[in-house]
Parts: sequence; C-alpha cells; structure tokens
Amino acid sequence: MPDILKLMIMLTILFSFIIDGNMIMSMTSGKPCVPRWFNRKHSFVCICNATVCDSFDDDDRISNESKTITIFSSDMHSDRFLRSEHHFKNVDTLNHGQTITINRNKTFQTIIGFGGAFTDATGINIGKLNDQLAKNVIYDYFSSRGLRYSMGRVPIGGTDFSTRPYSYDELGPKIHDDFNLSYFKLAAEDFDYKIPLVKLAQNISHYPIKLFASPWSPPAWIKTNGHLNGLGRIKGKPDGIYYETYATYMIKFLREYEKQGINFWGMTIQNEPVDGTIPAFKFNCNAMSPEEQRDFIFETLGPQLNASGFGIDKLKLMIMDDQRPFIEKWANVILSDKRANKYVSGIGFHWYLNPFTSVEVVSKTHHKFPNYFLLSTEACEGANPFQLEKVSLGNWDRAQSYAYDIIQDLNHYTSGWIDWNMALDPEGGPNWVKNFVDSPIIVSEDGSEYYKQPMYYSLAHFTRFIEPGSVRLDIQTQHEYLNMVAFETPNKATVLVVLNRNKHEVPLKIHDDKYGIFSHEIKGHSIQTLVWY
Ligand SMILES: *[C@@H]1O[C@H](CO)[C@@H](O)[C@H](O)[C@H]1NC(C)=O
Ligand SMILES: *[C@@H]1O[C@H](CO)[C@@H](O)[C@H](O)[C@H]1NC(C)=O
Ligand SMILES: *[C@@H]1O[C@H](CO)[C@@H](O)[C@H](O)[C@H]1NC(C)=O
Ligand SMILES: *[C@@H]1O[C@H](CO)[C@@H](O)[C@H](O)[C@H]1NC(C)=O
Ligand SMILES: *[C@@H]1O[C@H](CO)[C@@H](O)[C@H](O)[C@H]1NC(C)=O
Ligand SMILES: *[C@@H]1O[C@H](CO)[C@@H](O)[C@H](O)[C@H]1NC(C)=O
Repeated sequence: MPDILKLMIMLTILFSFIIDGNMIMSMTSGKPCVPRWFNRKHSFVCICNATVCDSFDDDDRISNESKTITIFSSDMHSDRFLRSEHHFKNVDTLNHGQTITINRNKTFQTIIGFGGAFTDATGINIGKLNDQLAKNVIYDYFSSRGLRYSMGRVPIGGTDFSTRPYSYDELGPKIHDDFNLSYFKLAAEDFDYKIPLVKLAQNISHYPIKLFASPWSPPAWIKTNGHLNGLGRIKGKPDGIYYETYATYMIKFLREYEKQGINFWGMTIQNEPVDGTIPAFKFNCNAMSPEEQRDFIFETLGPQLNASGFGIDKLKLMIMDDQRPFIEKWANVILSDKRANKYVSGIGFHWYLNPFTSVEVVSKTHHKFPNYFLLSTEACEGANPFQLEKVSLGNWDRAQSYAYDIIQDLNHYTSGWIDWNMALDPEGGPNWVKNFVDSPIIVSEDGSEYYKQPMYYSLAHFTRFIEPGSVRLDIQTQHEYLNMVAFETPNKATVLVVLNRNKHEVPLKIHDDKYGIFSHEIKGHSIQTLVWY
C-alpha cells in the first residue's frame, strides 16, 4: 500500500475517533479497515483492538434514485467494502468482457439465511478478549453494522472444536445404561460459551436468528464401541430402546435450551453420519447409514418430536448434514419414503468433498424433491490435509473460495450457507484432536486483539444484502470469466454479487429490462456487490 494511502487511512481513523470517543460500541456509520500484512504473498487482515476496529454502515445508503447503482467492492490489494455510485446508460460502450441479462421473469428459490456456528472454540476465543471486544465480535457477525447473520448452528454436546469430548449423559468409568436419562445435564460449556453468546446475538441481531442444533455423538453408553469417537453406531435397531433413548436425549436438549430462553428453528439428525465409518477420523462422530436414518426418523425420532410439540410446523428437521457428493443417495433413500418424508423439511450438506462431484447434484436433488429446502450447513478453509497452513492470515484465495462456493450453491437452489467456527486462535483451535482449520475471525494468542480475515468480507458481500426472503433471479450469459448470482430482495432491490478470480480486470455489461444497460469494470481478484432499485 502506498504511504499516502496509509496516511489517509490513519487520518480517517484519527478523525472518526475524535468525533465519537467511545468508538467501538457507539458507531452508526462505518469505520475503515486498519490493515496488517502477515505475509507478503497474501492480502491483509483488518485489526480490531482496544483502539481501532472497522465496521460497516448501519445503513447501506443504497441510492434509490432511478437508474443509480450502488457498488461495494473488496479486493486483494487495497479495498474492503469500498462504496461508489454509478448510473445506467443506454449507450453501449463495451465490446469485450462479459455481458449478462437479468431476467426478472424467471425466479428460483427463496433465501432462508446465512450464519455461523456457536462452537465451544468460538466461545473460548471470544472469551479471551476484554468485554467490549468480545461483544464486538458478536456485533461483527449479527448486528446491522456487521454481517447481519440470520442463522446459527449450535452443537448438541461437544465437537472436535471443544477442549474435551463430552455428551450430556456420561456415566464416567462405570459405563452402564441410563434409559431414563437420570444423569442428563447440560455441560459447563453450554453455560460458559454457547448460551451467553447466543443470547447476546439474539439481543443485538439485525434479523431474528434461526437457530439449528446438530449432534456429533450420542452418549458413549448408547454406542456399540462405548466411545464418543471412533467406529461406533447406536446399539440395536432404529425402533429399539437405544435409538428411542437417543431421541429423548435430543428432545431433552431442546427443552433445556428452552428453559434458558433459547428456541430452535431446526435440527439436523446427525453431523456427518459417514464419519463414523472412516477409521482415520479421530473426532466425535456416530455412524448412520441413510437407511438407518430413514428408519430412525419414522420409527422413533419423528413421532417423538411430534408428540413433544416439536412437529414439522415448529422445528425443521434436516437430513444428511454430510458431504455434497452423497446428497442424491440420501435424498432418494429418505425422501422417497412416505413414512419418513412427512417429518422432514430440508437437506443439509457440507463442502469438504466438493471437488469430487459437480454442484449439479444439488440441482438434480432439488428437481426430484422440490418441497425440501437445501442448506449448506458447514464449510471452512484449511481443513484439506494438503493445506499445511491451517490459519492463513490475510489469505485472499480463501475469500475467493468462500465466494465461489456460495455462488455455486446459490445458483443451484441452495437457500442458505452456514460457516463453521466464528472465532479461532492463530493455530486454528482449540480442538481436542488437533483438527485445526481457519476462520473469518482469528483472536490473537493473548486476547489483546482480533483479525478480520478476507473471508469475513467475502461473506459480507452476500450476507449484508441478500436478506432472508430474497428470491434468486435468472441470469443469461455467454461467458464464465466472472462468477455471479442475482437476487431480488423483499423490498424489491436487485442484488448482484460478482466474483473475479482472474488477475486482470474484466468488463461487465448488465442488461436489465427495467433500466437498460450498465457497464462496469470488475477489478482483478475482487468481489463486488451491485445493488439497485
Ligand atoms: C491497535 O492496532 C493499531 C494498528 O496496528 C495500533 O496502532 C495500536 O497501537 C493498537 N492499539 C492497542 C491498544 O494495542
Ligand atoms: C428515497 O429515499 C429517501 C430517503 O430515504 C426517501 O425519502 C424517498 O421517499 C425515497 N424515494 C423513493 C422513490 O423510494
Ligand atoms: C419479461 O416479461 C415481459 C412481459 O411479460 C417482457 O416484455 C420481457 O421481454 C420479458 N423479459 C425477459 C428478459 O424475458
Ligand atoms: C425409570 O423410571 C421409571 C418410571 O419413573 C422407574 O419405574 C424405573 O425404576 C426407572 N429406572 C431406572 C433404571 O432408574
Ligand atoms: C439482552 O437484553 C436484555 C434487555 O435489554 C438485557 O436485560 C440482557 O442482559 C441482555 N442480554 C445479553 C446477553 O446481552
Ligand atoms: C403430530 O401430532 C398431531 C397431534 O398431536 C397429529 O394430529 C399429527 O397427525 C401428527 N403428525 C404426524 C406426522 O405424525
């Protein structure tokens, strides 16, 4: 960055600090990024500490003047959410690049929301910050000046992103059955990390938060191998006492959170049910085949949920919650079955094996089962074993891979995208089996500051504008130099998110039958959101 630019940023910060002394908590208009480079090959992070922290505007200041487009741009080299205004012109000045036509006559799925997960690691890292900075992380994700998340995933019990394996009904060294769940109780982690952050998020969020719960493993005594991890599954048959007790266990969790004032919108039946069949995996898991999940739903879980007041009108039950390549198989087995499908609302899928199948499987599944929503329920960078750098501070490639995946999913009938940990340490944990990964927010080792990664801004290009209830619009184009997706929001704004993964800029020409033609240069390695009324 040229020194003059650095100077300008410093002056802007100084000036904004003077006009509102209590800068972090009381802002209404955005604050600029204070950049730091950790690695010359990479882009930069934005610093948040006791004196500086950037934020977006509470109000996007989208121009509602006819034929005016408001653009927000972030790129590898200098910009984070740079705002500018432009105008439609009916003169055709462009004869190269990419031309698109927005077709408002053809609409697709409706957006449910975007969000992240309230893992223990998220709570532990946020807990290292002083109160004001800790609150600020939740503002960064949920408030009108942050990402405006409208969804949150809450693990039922522990995950690998905890400091120990646990469930809510562990019997210690004396393993025996507890079919009455007499020993059931929430863990210290629920009270220390999950519940307080969920409540704060609910208090300050821009949208109401749709929470969904996901279990990683039943209590060890319910499983064939007597462990929370490893190659184990639930003992007996899906209509047997162990499955029945497990369904009651999940309902008890929902009730305990209700007592804390937290109500769930949805639940997945099992996080990554295939993991319990893979010897290499060391973390909390529970094997379940699609046939077992189907039978569990109609024999036990579905009827119990319904009888307990968590029927389909109250709680959206999601199947699979595992890798995208498995989606057709799982949907066929469960959603073709009339006994099971009446309890199900949607299908959750994860991104970790995306390179192994085309995203077309998601559209195919939608066309076969159009009444079930599709939700991307987990994704993170740094999880691939070939990625030696787990946390990669300032890495722009990872911002691009988030944007690319979100665009792909949204263009194939997916109604939302949920990130994994909301805050990790510089190693990518804590994680009790050292399965470290990256996160859009990294908290420094000593808790004196945190870093907003390029991935954070990548998410913002979608989450701040594609409100819940937005409907996808058709785009016609001849080329694929750029990746993009278009929506119409409930109050009739058109939102186009464009990703340029090329080094060089690509001219984009938009035909909108409402307004005419708009031409704009999309900078190399940039993500841009274009909004117009
Ligand atoms: C916060 O970070 C900025 C930018 O790195 C630095 O100038 C400032 O001294 C830091 N403030 C504190 C209290 O550490
Ligand atoms: C445009 O926005 C301004 C300020 O928010 C408002 O007063 C005006 O009514 C809006 N105009 C239209 C056409 O929506
Ligand atoms: C959309 O429909 C309108 C009226 O039905 C038509 O005039 C217009 O050409 C259509 N637009 C596109 C892009 O198909
Ligand atoms: C479970 O509860 C039932 C009914 O309350 C009771 O009769 C039974 O003794 C309990 N079993 C155990 C093992 O505690
Ligand atoms: C949420 O807001 C209520 C009412 O303003 C307040 O009493 C409560 O302490 C807040 N809770 C959290 C976790 O911020
Ligand atoms: C759920 O329970 C209600 C009554 O409590 C019943 O009318 C309904 O048929 C049940 N639904 C299913 C799918 O079993």
